[in-house]
Amino acid sequence: MAFPITRHRRLRRTAGIRGMVRETLLTAEDFIYPIFVTHGTNVKEEIPSMPGVYHFSMDRLEEEIRDVVASGVRSVLLFGVPEHKDSIGSSAYDRDGIVQQAIRAVKSWAPELVIVADTCLCQFTDHGHCGIVHQDTASGTAVVDNDQSLELLVRTAVSQAEAGADIIAPSNMMDGFVHAIRSGLDDAGYSDIAIMSYSVKYASAFYGPFRDAAHSAPQFGDRKTYQMDPANVREAIREADSDVAEGADMLMVKPALAYLDVLRLLKEQFDLPLVAYNVSAEYSMVKAAAANGWINERGIVLETLTGMKRAGADIIITYHAKDASRWLRGEEV
Ligand code: PBG
Repeated sequence: MAFPITRHRRLRRTAGIRGMVRETLLTAEDFIYPIFVTHGTNVKEEIPSMPGVYHFSMDRLEEEIRDVVASGVRSVLLFGVPEHKDSIGSSAYDRDGIVQQAIRAVKSWAPELVIVADTCLCQFTDHGHCGIVHQDTASGTAVVDNDQSLELLVRTAVSQAEAGADIIAPSNMMDGFVHAIRSGLDDAGYSDIAIMSYSVKYASAFYGPFRDAAHSAPQFGDRKTYQMDPANVREAIREADSDVAEGADMLMVKPALAYLDVLRLLKEQFDLPLVAYNVSAEYSMVKAAAANGWINERGIVLETLTGMKRAGADIIITYHAKDASRWLRGEEV
């Protein structure tokens, strides 16, 4: 027999054959595009550390939504950058808050777009933590109070559902948030609204540009008492297990790029749809290198997103969504 015995290159010979044997298919339907909404008029302000991503005031939001729809992306994730912050994050669950207004407006402009609402308090609290903070008398340190925070997160989720959100995505990492929000939604008559749980969210340096964008950096301490240690993976199973038991409809791993092993593991262990969050610094690093002419942005982005899908993601939240969607259609951006 001729050597080599196995010729893997036979299936790589032409674009047609490569297409037939391709195992992972990336499509615009996989993507969710995050958008930052703020107060004021005529605001379309680029976030310095996230080129191509902007803050929009309500009056400039419609043009962005039209562009999202035109790109082929079918879903957006809305973040609010509020005017008013206080210790209890009251703008987060204000029926007329910035996110609630944006949800209503987006629904009216593009009823077919799937609206995901991020449910957290950190953009809305003056201390920048994801829940209520109290002074622990024993240690004298400030702690984020789990159970008190749940109540406010439930109010936030219900107000988002009331405004018309299709999916509630709690990102706060309090224990029991899925159960609390599920019960709250059910009691308020929103039993059909799904929960996309940020189940496995690490305390990551990769959120830096987002915190600039959302003005949500903690004013003291860090998030290590509620977000996960990047060194842990068995703990990811425990987190996902409790979210499944509490009624989550989808599970998320965040960030994505440095945690592809976690995505793969969750894919093997759970049968709920799995979401990867391609977070802000993952985006910023690509944009910075591309701006310097050091990398081929299109190639890097499509390869990265394909890698996330191959690792196990069914859905990818990404700031590259509009560009990637256009590239997949063969358009230049
Ligand atoms: C809110 C939230 C954060 C991100 C999404 N939701 C920031 C954080 O936890 O500090 C980060 C997203 C990104 O970096 O793109 N809790």
